[in-house]
Amino acid sequence: MTVESVKPVAPEAAELREPPLAGGAVPGLGHGLKLVRDPLAFMSGLGEHGDVVRLRLGPKTVYAVTTPALTGALALSPDFKIDGPLWESLEGLLGKEGVATANGPRHRRQRRTIQPAFRLDAIPDYGPVMEEEAHALTVRWRPGETIDCTSESFRVAVRIAARCLLRGEYMDERAERLSNDLATVFRGMYRRMVVPLGPLYRLPFPANREFNRALADLHLLVDEIVAERRASGQKPDDLLTALLEAKDDNGDPIGEQEIHDQVVAILTPGSETVASTIMWLLQVLAEHPEHAEKVRTEVESVTGGRPVGFEHVRSLTHTNNVVVEAMRLRPAVWILTRRAVTDTALGGYRIPAGADIVYSPYAIQRDARSYEGHLDFDPDRWRPERAKDVPKYAMSPFSVGNRKCPSDHFSMTQLSLITAAVSAKYRFEQAGGSDDTTRVGITLRPHDLRLRAMPW
Ligand code: HEM
Repeated sequence: MTVESVKPVAPEAAELREPPLAGGAVPGLGHGLKLVRDPLAFMSGLGEHGDVVRLRLGPKTVYAVTTPALTGALALSPDFKIDGPLWESLEGLLGKEGVATANGPRHRRQRRTIQPAFRLDAIPDYGPVMEEEAHALTVRWRPGETIDCTSESFRVAVRIAARCLLRGEYMDERAERLSNDLATVFRGMYRRMVVPLGPLYRLPFPANREFNRALADLHLLVDEIVAERRASGQKPDDLLTALLEAKDDNGDPIGEQEIHDQVVAILTPGSETVASTIMWLLQVLAEHPEHAEKVRTEVESVTGGRPVGFEHVRSLTHTNNVVVEAMRLRPAVWILTRRAVTDTALGGYRIPAGADIVYSPYAIQRDARSYEGHLDFDPDRWRPERAKDVPKYAMSPFSVGNRKCPSDHFSMTQLSLITAAVSAKYRFEQAGGSDDTTRVGITLRPHDLRLRAMPW
């Protein structure tokens, strides 16, 4: 990963303009209702009002950035840090000492600890687990059977993250528990963010009890994993060992809480995002049989009919383009926020210290100003001769800068491998009761995707 960090040249304060107020604000409520009712349409429409616009959310002013260039500038500028309501509620539930919510020197130190596990040259070591898990899916699914894509996608995503990064046989049994807990926790977290009813979430309603049980079990599981690794006396070359051996800035071992929060901070973003993307990939294969067929043909020609393996991934160009195009139209991470640490500027607009800034990779990646046929599913747009026309930062599903997802290579490899393995064996059809409309949560995913796996 390259950690880019450039300070945009800020014009003199006097020259800075106030960003326009986005249209459609309702007295008293501002834009809140629109954002809650249809967040994707709302975020996608903001570009019409300006490159940077002001939103009124209740009494608060929030700034939205709507062009690829300015989202890049935002992500790369040291004038903004990770903070705001999204991060505060994540911290409250998942822990304050993990890499995803830390800032400043602690964040830099934590990135240095985790980065080696995700480097491009570390990925081949994960190949056998990824292959095994991808093929296991095709064996679990019986021809003609209806697949519950939500649980299957979660299951494989958690198993790959846990087996590769926190190596250990116990993962095979625990992955199921982990994936059930995470699915419940993410559902509840999103509800708590969008409808902040505070004390009501402490009442003993069944949904609250289920959420609390899953959250407690998640933390317990992480404690068990750490304790067992310690008790084993083993130090395999993996992310867990790196975390257990990590030192703070004084050269002292990091505390128990930080180790715990770090494991949580890696497992949670790592499973929900990949799982959601796998669901969209399965949906795309069902919706676009012509591309499913093209993927199958490509896999067959690259592998010569043998089971697809890690070594084939680089040659599967159409398959990779299908993955990228699915991520363009349905990015798992559809909204990101930052907070200004100082009075600063974006695109010639004044941003005051303490302001919350929001942008939507979903809106950026579907913008007609950046993409011809912007809503068409067109994997060939990622062929080199066409991809060069895509504006910078118009396709950054892993973000850029010092908060860029450390797992871009790790994720892309498993997504391509899974797409190739399942397409080689099956084509997919929507099954009765399937609902592939978009469910907006912490990530975007289909509401309840159910597909029949049909042999070719
Ligand atoms: C951060 C996307 C998979 C671990 C991020 C960010 C994005 C992202 C956009 C940056 C957030 C920001 O700028 O505020 C994705 C997507 C994935 C994926 C689209 C898969 C399709 C994973 C996996 C892991 C992971 C598999 C770990 C196993 C993390 C961590 C951070 C992060 C630890 C925080 C980095 C930091 O703040 O320094 N991810 N991610 N992600 N991701 Fe991912």
